[in-house]
Amino acid sequence: MTHIAVLGSTNMDLVAFVAKAPQRGETVTGREFRTIPGGKGANQAAAAARAGATVSMIGAVGNDAAGTRLRETLEHSGVDTDFLRTVEGPSGTAHIVVDDEGGNSIVVIPGANGTVDHLSPGDEGLIASADTLLLQLEIPLAAVVAGAAAAHQHGVRTILTPSPVQPLPPELLAATDLLVPNQYEAITLTGRTDPREAATALLELVPRAVVTLGATGCLYVSRDAEPLVVPAPRVEAVDTTGAGDTFTGALAVALAEEKPVREALSWAAAAASLSVERAGASASMPYRPEIDARFTA
Ligand code: RIB
Ligand code: NA
Repeated sequence: MTHIAVLGSTNMDLVAFVAKAPQRGETVTGREFRTIPGGKGANQAAAAARAGATVSMIGAVGNDAAGTRLRETLEHSGVDTDFLRTVEGPSGTAHIVVDDEGGNSIVVIPGANGTVDHLSPGDEGLIASADTLLLQLEIPLAAVVAGAAAAHQHGVRTILTPSPVQPLPPELLAATDLLVPNQYEAITLTGRTDPREAATALLELVPRAVVTLGATGCLYVSRDAEPLVVPAPRVEAVDTTGAGDTFTGALAVALAEEKPVREALSWAAAAASLSVERAGASASMPYRPEIDARFTA
């Protein structure tokens, strides 16, 4: 079985479901409030485990009730949490507004994730034993850089989600094999406005990139192959929170299993489309049989 390590965040998502998100100064009445385990790191870990890999999560939760639930939820999805530390203070939270079109806006308060600013003893050994390391930017950049560098030193593939988007230091880019931004992030990183141009410009930074385009699908670019446009299955969006993380987690598994790139992208798009049809980040992620059933080559 393939082994995926994830170095990143865990958040308790505090989600308000509302017809239309409020503008500044506006008060609106929503429909429902839910707390759902999330965080880009934990989401990618859960997605990869449900997609069929052995997954280990490196990060931190707080010593609060949310921390206990975040850990248990990961374990329930089959993720190994031996390297997920429990630290003094609150867990990370994400304050999310989901509208009737399934779109969202998110404020993240790092909490325990802010303590993950270095690799702890054992982390490097774990990373070295994995096929792939998944990284995002919801923990301090110093740890992301250290994790990517450790992975590269041991010949482990790295996949980076540049979110929340910020300038990427050269030592991180040098240790990134595949960058997976959404359209907004790709445009921010490159200063180009057209997604296709932005994708091409990303190749000045990294050898391969996938720009996710929401309902449209994704765009894959590589320094050594022709670009690929892969459509997403058409679905009714209920909640897109974590769809990108589902895509990336599933993609990591498919690539580690050495599926051809187009097939891997299309399989990951099938996984993401299933997550969009259900509410919540981790709660909505599909298991492998569902992905296989939705997948069309
Ligand atoms: O990518 C989705 C995730 O972003 C949510 O689960 C939330 O925790 C934020 O980190
Ligand atoms: Na969802």
